[in-house]
Amino acid sequence: MSTQTGQLLLAGTPGPLSVPRRRLTLSSQNFKDSTLAIHGGRSLDSHASSMIFPLYQTSMFVHQAVGLDTAISYSRVSNPTVDMLEKVIGELEGTPPAVCFRSGMAATTTLFLALLKAGDHVVLTEVIYGGTMRLFREVLDHFGVTSTFVDTCEAANVESAITAATRIVFIETPGNPTLKLTDIAAVARITKQHGVLLAVDNTFLTPILQKPLELGADISVLSTTKYIDGHNATVGGSIATRDEAMLERLRLIRKTLGTIQAPFEAWLTLQGVKTLPARLKIQCENAMALASWLERNPAVERVYYPGLDSCPQKALADRQQRAPGGMLAFELKAGLEPTIRMLNALKLCVRAESLGGLETLMTHPSTTTHADLDPELRRRLGIRDGLVRISVGLEAPEDILADLEQAFAAAGISAAQTTPKSNASSEVSREVR
Ligand SMILES: Cc1ncc(COP(=O)(O)O)c(C=O)c1O
Repeated sequence: MSTQTGQLLLAGTPGPLSVPRRRLTLSSQNFKDSTLAIHGGRSLDSHASSMIFPLYQTSMFVHQAVGLDTAISYSRVSNPTVDMLEKVIGELEGTPPAVCFRSGMAATTTLFLALLKAGDHVVLTEVIYGGTMRLFREVLDHFGVTSTFVDTCEAANVESAITAATRIVFIETPGNPTLKLTDIAAVARITKQHGVLLAVDNTFLTPILQKPLELGADISVLSTTKYIDGHNATVGGSIATRDEAMLERLRLIRKTLGTIQAPFEAWLTLQGVKTLPARLKIQCENAMALASWLERNPAVERVYYPGLDSCPQKALADRQQRAPGGMLAFELKAGLEPTIRMLNALKLCVRAESLGGLETLMTHPSTTTHADLDPELRRRLGIRDGLVRISVGLEAPEDILADLEQAFAAAGISAAQTTPKSNASSEVSREVR
């Protein structure tokens, strides 16, 4: 039990035992990410020393006297629960506290509005998240900001697209849905030469599996909606950078736009992030088991997963990622209709467009997430009618495989072509356990 003055009262002791309140600065102690995810940003709640950092569900904070306000005044500017999430994400990113937003798109929008002006130009990955593309087409274009979308997997394409007006190169790696990788260090060398900022949307891997700033990027952007929360309970985003002036500018523009994360979402995200490294470990194991099983399945044309030896970019994945991740894609030889039938026959895995949660989700990119793309571009990107994207969850891998297997059979994708159930289970024991 603790008193308001920060003394600890120990059961069985005659009176208050004066123990100074200690603030742990974990990042200075070189803890590993799995420790930082749980203890990062740790400071005792000054009111009651609660184990879990409290939810400050309030719009405002009281001034002690006129002109004597606290550092925190209004929750559109900052809030202690949001501050705590920012400290934890900053510690995982290896930066000062991050800046948290109401969504991943609020983070990206605030970033561009904070750093660009009319006449500026941005180079982006051509298979970027659709919302980022729409931000340019529907908003920034109208304010005189121009953009060029290129295949950033070839770093030379980035260099060719940079003009005297370019301010930011914004990349996403792995790309969605075919998980094509962009070499962050190679692009960073180019942006540095040209005095241009490099921002990486690291939503698919999170700083647990890929640290863009260590690879030379200036800015890391996350949709915390996905793996960081991990429970499909919140929508949120974050930006991390080591540049203190940029952080200050981002906070100013966030206050101006009103794009800050809400306290309750931040509090829920703080609970989710604690298990992020543990979740990702299982998701990577499950994804590897699934990818290997799919690769051996004659009904499958190809599997996209950076952990497979057959992945043409495996060496790059091994260099810049700490693990291949929990996302994969595969293409069925059968065309559109059997693929849709297979997806509709799933009983355990869920048909949904998001990613990064506990549940295994499957998406059909050509009719959903990437349906609006020009058909020629879709073909060039490998988004064919048989392509399925999987966000691998934490279920028992045997159960995920069994569901896929029964869905293949139900869709009439020849049972003879699929691995018998008994083999699927032993496959799992080889790949995962
Ligand atoms: C890679 C990536 N970046 C950004 C976003 C946008 O995040 P939010 O939905 O939190 O606004 C998404 C959403 O799906 C995404 O997949």
